[in-house]
Amino acid sequence: MIEFKNVSKLYGNVRALKDVNVTIGNGEFVFIVGASGAGKSTFIKLLLKEIEPTAGQIIVNNTDLSAMKRKHIPYYRRNLGVVFQDFRLLPDKTVYDNVAFAMEIVEASKKEIRRQVPAVLGLVGLASKANAYPHELSGGEQQRTSLARALANNPSILIADEPTGNLDPATAKEIMKIINVINHRGTTVIMATHAKEIVNAMKKRVITFRKGMIVSDQEKGEYFGEV
Ligand SMILES: Nc1ncnc2c1ncn2[C@@H]1O[C@H](COP(=O)(O)OP(=O)(O)O)[C@@H](O)[C@H]1O
Ligand SMILES: [Mg+2]
Repeated sequence: MIEFKNVSKLYGNVRALKDVNVTIGNGEFVFIVGASGAGKSTFIKLLLKEIEPTAGQIIVNNTDLSAMKRKHIPYYRRNLGVVFQDFRLLPDKTVYDNVAFAMEIVEASKKEIRRQVPAVLGLVGLASKANAYPHELSGGEQQRTSLARALANNPSILIADEPTGNLDPATAKEIMKIINVINHRGTTVIMATHAKEIVNAMKKRVITFRKGMIVSDQEKGEYFGEV
């Protein structure tokens, strides 16, 4: 479970989040929506413990992130799979090695890597591209690789910040199908986006931010952009 309790974030004197209160249960699929500058990425960076709140508490699976010891942060992050708009693949590694690398850095065994990498590449429909390099892939294939890498260590939460931002609508739809399958397998999904067509097609929980505040939180919600 993820809980934000009265969370505010200031960057200097810019208020990015103001008094955010929200609870996200295990296995949920939640869209974080709002205009550019509304605070979506700040919400995600706080969850990743890339930045610290100015006020309030963030509790993930009963652990208060601000009380977490530095040496526990890598273990915490291991439980989070993350994908971004710009894929962030290693250009000199193949698809297989990009995924394997995520497991090597957490010291998974060779045996476990040999089992898991083909499994996650199969899940995202990329088995046939295992030996390709990122520059040989389409944008959709690069994002699938990034998803496979995010899933390599079996995270309980998948966090995606504008994962379809660089993709055409048809490719974006394919990526959403995969993210939906991942959610159905039990992974909590938190996806920040301003792509209203995608949000409205999915019929999931929608939390809308405006100027750093949550202005609505709806099951099977919709987003119509800024009015
Ligand atoms: N590192 C930073 N330094 C200063 N201001 C920032 C920084 N990051 C974000 N902001 C500001 O915080 C607000 C929220 O930004 P952000 O969370 O990136 O919004 P979104 O992802 O919804 O576009 C914006 O006003 C933005 O300009
Ligand atoms: Mg953003």
